[in-house]
Amino acid sequence: MPKNTIIPVAAAITMMFASCVNDPDSPGLEYMPDMYRSPAIEAYVDYGEDPYYVTEEFAASQRNTPSARLPVEGTISFSGEDKAFNLPYPYPNTPEGYEAAGAELVSPIASSEENIAAGAILYGQMCTQCHGEEGKGDGAISRNGHIVGIPSYSGKLKDLPEGKMYHTLQYGKGLMGSHASQLSQKDRWLIIEYIKTLQGNDVASSETENND
Ligand code: HEC
Repeated sequence: MPKNTIIPVAAAITMMFASCVNDPDSPGLEYMPDMYRSPAIEAYVDYGEDPYYVTEEFAASQRNTPSARLPVEGTISFSGEDKAFNLPYPYPNTPEGYEAAGAELVSPIASSEENIAAGAILYGQMCTQCHGEEGKGDGAISRNGHIVGIPSYSGKLKDLPEGKMYHTLQYGKGLMGSHASQLSQKDRWLIIEYIKTLQGNDVASSETENND
């Protein structure tokens, strides 16, 4: 054997024997333990405040212990008090869906002064251009003749149930587009609380009045 191969061969033989152990499950000599036992943080495991510095026993006792973290920002809640505003809308965009919403869907929020006032602000931002300040169908776009015949809340729509209002905000109706992407579910119900107060207007002064 040439001299310059003796050292590598001897080293290889030494390593082979050094890694021999009796326990067949043992990985043998660990040159880099981190590669066998990753210090990476497992999902849903609570490693405490100092994850990298806890002992192996402590970390082992914590492993497989589910402990969900706070949901990431933007996560949709399907329980708790926001549930009513996060579930998918159950009624299809069909005449039957519209009727069913009208018969079954009720506002999850109270008709409180606070909610009505919040709805009034949103209504002013999103709806007056067509429906008018008082909901008589005489907003700027109606007055300038672009969209005519917008029904008055206190006239033709006086008895419109809140479920149908919501359905219309969800899908749109006729010349009114869907407002589902512009308004959160809660905002839609707030506006509806306000519209319900407009439905109580004097019927006689509605519909025909189109130029104030
Ligand atoms: C581009 C003009 C326009 C805008 C903006 C608009 N609407 Fe309408 N809306 C209409 C028209 C037109 C109708 C009549 C639809 C029909 O019956 O064909 C209508 C109808 C409605 C109805 C009656 C639906 C039904 O079931 O008969 C409600 C309630 C309503 N709108 C609420 C709102 C609210 C709330 C907003 C603001 C978030 C809004 N609209 C924004 C034009 C508009």
